[in-house]
This record gives sequence, C-alpha cells and structure tokens, in this order.
Amino acid sequence: MKRKQWYKDMTFYQIWPRSFKDGNGDGIGDLWGIYEKLDYIRSLGVDGIWFSPLYPSPNADYGYDIADYYNINSEYGDMDIFQKVLDRAHELGMKVIMDLVVNHTSDEHPWFLAAKKDKNSPYHDYYIWREGKRDKDGMSHPEDAKKNPNNWDSLFEGKAWEYVEEVDEYYLHIFAKKQPDLNHDNPAVREEVKKIMRFWLEKGVDGFREDVITFISKEEGLPNDYVMPAAKGLGYYSNGPHLHEYLQEYRRVAEEYDCFLLGEAPQMTPKKALPFIGEGKEQDLDMMFHFQHMEADCLMTDYLQLPFNLRKMKRAFSSWQNDLEGKGWNALYIENHDHPRIISRYGDEQYRVESGKMLAAMYLLQKGTAFVYQGQEIGMTNISLPTLEDYKDIQVKQNYNTWKGLFGEKKAMKLARKSCRDSARTPVQWSAGEHAGFTTGTPWFVINENYPQVNVESQLDDEDSLLSFYRKVIAYRKNPVIRYGTYWELEKNHRNLYVYERSYKGKKVLVVCSFTKKPVCYALPEGWQSPNVSKVLGNYEGREDVLRPYEVAVYEKA
Ligand code: GLC
Ligand code: CA
Repeated sequence: MKRKQWYKDMTFYQIWPRSFKDGNGDGIGDLWGIYEKLDYIRSLGVDGIWFSPLYPSPNADYGYDIADYYNINSEYGDMDIFQKVLDRAHELGMKVIMDLVVNHTSDEHPWFLAAKKDKNSPYHDYYIWREGKRDKDGMSHPEDAKKNPNNWDSLFEGKAWEYVEEVDEYYLHIFAKKQPDLNHDNPAVREEVKKIMRFWLEKGVDGFREDVITFISKEEGLPNDYVMPAAKGLGYYSNGPHLHEYLQEYRRVAEEYDCFLLGEAPQMTPKKALPFIGEGKEQDLDMMFHFQHMEADCLMTDYLQLPFNLRKMKRAFSSWQNDLEGKGWNALYIENHDHPRIISRYGDEQYRVESGKMLAAMYLLQKGTAFVYQGQEIGMTNISLPTLEDYKDIQVKQNYNTWKGLFGEKKAMKLARKSCRDSARTPVQWSAGEHAGFTTGTPWFVINENYPQVNVESQLDDEDSLLSFYRKVIAYRKNPVIRYGTYWELEKNHRNLYVYERSYKGKKVLVVCSFTKKPVCYALPEGWQSPNVSKVLGNYEGREDVLRPYEVAVYEKA
C-alpha cells in the first residue's frame, strides 16, 4: 500500500500527562484536564498530539514502566474519558499518537510477576534471564557485581542485572530495576507487541512514538563491554542484530492502519538511521528522535555537563538536514520530558522571551515534522531545588552519586540541578492564580516559582508574547518553502550565529539566529539585499546591521 505520509508537514504537541492540567482536584494532571485544554492546544496551530504514557504504572519512571498495556492509569482517568479526548481531538482536526513502551515493562506487570516466580512459566522467556557467574562451590553471590552475568551498566541504577532468588537467575534491566527488559527474540513477545498496537489503533489512535525502540534487539551472547567507559553494554543493545527484522513486523501492523511510527533512538547518527528511516520498501520507521543536537552542552552517555557549544549544535542539525535530504524525514524537537528546559540551556533566562523566540524559529523552520513540548510555548525554565530528596526523577539520583564520587557533593548538586529531567516535569503554568491554575488541590510536584510572570493566561492575548510567536511560526510552517524546501547552512564557523536558507521552486527563506546577548555585526548575504526581500518573522522591530541580543529574523524572497 502506498502510504499517504500525512504526517510530513505536521506540528505535534507533546503532553506529559501528570503535569499538564488537573481536572479533578487531586493535584495530578489527567485526561479531564486535557479535555478542557484541547481547544487551547488546537489554537496553537498544531495538528497532532503525542501522549507520554497514559497506562497503569507504579511510576518508578513516571509511566515508562507499564503494568497494563490495555488500560488507562486511574490517576489519569479511564477508557471513557480517553475515548472522549481522542474523538474530540479528531473533531478539532488533530491526530493522536501514543507512547509505545515495549523495550521493557514494569516489574509489576503480570508477565513479570509470573516470570520471576517460575522458570517453567511461558512468561519466563518474555524477559532476559541469565545465571550469575558461580564460585567453585556453586554459589552465585547475588550482591557481588562481579558475579553478574556480564558487566553491563543500567542507565538509571547501578548494574543492569538484578538477582531473583525464586529462579536463581538474574534479569536484565537497561533502565531501572523496576523496568525489566522484554525479550523480543521470543516470537510470543512480538505477537504481544502487535496485539497492543492493534488494540489502540482499533480505538482510533493514529500512530506511536516507540520508546527506546532501537534497544530491543540485544547482541547474541550478551558479551562483556570493554569499550565504553560508562553506560557499558550500549554498543551491544543499540541497533542490535535483529532490530530491522522486528521493526518490519511492527511496521506491517502500522501499514494495515496507515498509521505513523516514530522511533526514539539514542546514540543515533544520520548514517546509522537511514537503513531504518530511508524511504522505500524496507522502511521501518517514518522518522526518529535522535539526540545529537541535544548534546551541545553535555554528553548523554556519561551525563557530563559542558559549556554550550553552538557549532556542535549546528553541525548536528545540519548533518541531519543534509544527509536525509530526498531520502528520509526529520523529527524536529528541542524539548521533551527527558531534557531540562531549552531556554535555560541554549538560551538565556535573562532574555527569556527573546531567546525563547529565537530558539522556536531556529528549529521549527527546518525541514521535518515538528514537536513542541508542553510549557515550551510559554517559555518555562528550569527549577532549582534545595536538596536531592526534593527531586523525583530516578535518573538524577544515579548521576548525582557518580558526580559525588568524582567531584564532591557541592558540584554534584550543581550538576544535578542543571541536568535533571524534573525541570521539564513541573506543572504547566496556566495562570498567575493559585498553584498556577494547574490544580485546585495540592500539586503533586513543585511549581516553578516564576509562574506569576510566566503563564499561559498572560500571554494569550499579547501579540508580542512568546506564545503568540509560537503560533506565528507554527502557522508559517505551512509555507511550501518550509515544508519541502532544501536546506543550506551559511556562516558555518560562526561562534554566535546560526544562519540557514531554505529554497523551493525559486522561492527562498533566510533564517538568522543570534545565540548571544552581545551585539553581532551581520550583513545579509549576497542576493538578500534586494527590494523584493521582506522580513516575515522576528523578535525585534525593523532591521539593523547589528543583531540585538538573541535576535532572530526570518526573511522571504520571491
Ligand atoms: C525513554 C523515555 C524516558 C524513559 C526511558 C525508559 O527515553 O523518553 O522518559 O525514562 O525511555 O523508558
Ligand atoms: Ca487529577
């Protein structure tokens, strides 16, 4: 079947349900709250919504540890309100995609409960079990990491293995102990995945964002990793030997429904991605969320914090734009629930609105399907909490301990504050009212104290607000030059400017972004001085030869 590729010129809005909007006053965001806000979401001009997991979960990793794939977490609502939200979103002209988290389940999923009790259960082989290394006397010493089946690290919690006495074996968990990895080499597991997909597609959802999907095929024999200094094992489960084969099976289901598949892909480069997303018969995924442009101030593998390096960011964006041209499709994002807020990272809190606008245009005017994360459109920024205990995210606890060992407590805390995923997970600031209008109850997590200044209500009717700017840029994405035009980077080596041109059928758009508060002299490139050039978007009035702090200017040439 020829796929319609309806997703290609879309802009999605991502909802992390716990912190979006509380509808029933218990302090936790939910589907009733989402239902109330659907018109608001649509008013941004977006044409799709991606829901982070809505399924029942013990919340060790806030929904990314699923205990039941066929239900709605009772904290968020039930199947009726889900269906109502889905139908209303469709009425408003928005597609809906779900998070499909199948690299692992919760350890409280009935499959795992059966698997860990009994080696002979058919569910045992749903997970990845190995015997520990034993002493001569046959003892396996579960508490001794050296006795683990191999030396892989968990990305969230110590080593990647956990011992279970009942079966005298260890199970693999790339993430938390409470997130055992599923064994996709078992055909029964793959059947389960397809069943889950069909269940939600039958309800009318339009596709999936597949969580860490490039991790589902592990290298045979699970060899020890002597290469990686940290995150040991990554090279042996990332893009594993059967990934393409398994993704093809899942793709067939998607094709029955003409739905959309987006894979989350840590450690991905355009070259490695093309075999999976290259358009054609063997294509597995419509696009991928890679991380390269999110590493301009850090290194994902060892969570190192570095000074922001614009050239590194530009190289990442440009290589994806260029290498995929005519071959595959990009997914564009600068925020989600896994990264601190972008203004606090690549922008400047002192120039919150200016740098927020610049960052918006910077990525939204590239070629690809775009994603805007809740609160990004109003310029929410990072939080800074007094102690580690005040944070909720499981990942920061492990990173903190590593840093503490390396640099001492004070610096560790500083790094934790800077890099923590919790900064993206504070409740959305709807108004300057109590609890930022998020809830009438007690919010489940702290609200950023800047909510009296930074909130939706105060920006809604303000033409100059960041929110209004997002609307304008999202609307401008429908311009065929932005949808289909080729991409060409200028000023590649500039330390403070990111400049690129898009062109399509003789029409051109030029995007000029300054990443500094210092004035930067900049003359428009050749051919852009003529009278048929007009400025179509920007965060300052008029045009000067010296760019103002975090200035962005978008020009059009007929
Ligand atoms: C993905 C999710 C992240 C989660 C992890 C494990 O990276 O986006 O939130 O912690 O997978 O499921
Ligand atoms: Ca609630």
